[in-house]
Amino acid sequence: MEQVFDAIADGLADKQYAIVDNFLKEEEVDAILKEDHFQHYQQHFKKAGIGKQANAQINEAIRGDFISWIDPQTALPSTQVYLSRLQNLIQFLNRALFLSLKDAEVHQTVYPIGSYYKRHLDQFKKDDARKLSVILYLNKNWKEENGGQLRIYTNDQSFDILPLAGRLVCFRSDALEHEVLPATRERLSITGWILDRIKI
Ligand code: OGA
Ligand code: MN
Repeated sequence: MEQVFDAIADGLADKQYAIVDNFLKEEEVDAILKEDHFQHYQQHFKKAGIGKQANAQINEAIRGDFISWIDPQTALPSTQVYLSRLQNLIQFLNRALFLSLKDAEVHQTVYPIGSYYKRHLDQFKKDDARKLSVILYLNKNWKEENGGQLRIYTNDQSFDILPLAGRLVCFRSDALEHEVLPATRERLSITGWILDRIKI
């Protein structure tokens, strides 16, 4: 894991983002996919909204994904593997980049076929606790023609990332605009944010 963590720290320092494969091994991804939640997501997940609390609204035109927040106290062992790796990443980044990251908030995510999330920034207008966005993809045998790319916009260009199983994308929540393109298959992930305060 040291090498993977190193690559994430280097990417963040150099370019404000990092893409690493094998953040979770194939068996570790398989275990998460077998969880009842993902198997029966229509029962467990809610339509995602935009904005925070009072400002929250569901807007079909902006995003079409379904989410289920993960409570670390009750998460299944297969998801705990990922949560504890994220905690290790937080400790590593604090040492490597002199940050004071403290916690993470994480949800399971399904994009039904054809749904998308329009270009946006992850930090809320009135709350800047989200420092890093971290997305773990869970899609086996995903092909270019399945679409569903994460498109990240940098100053003068954009580039696309396929949501491949075991791949982790990490980027500065305040700095990089991004969007999710529609896909021809259900697109599964665990989406999270690393915070500079303890989650309340
Ligand atoms: C988000 C988001 C990107 C992705 O949930 O805010 O931008 O690739 N997700 O799923
Ligand atoms: Mn986002």
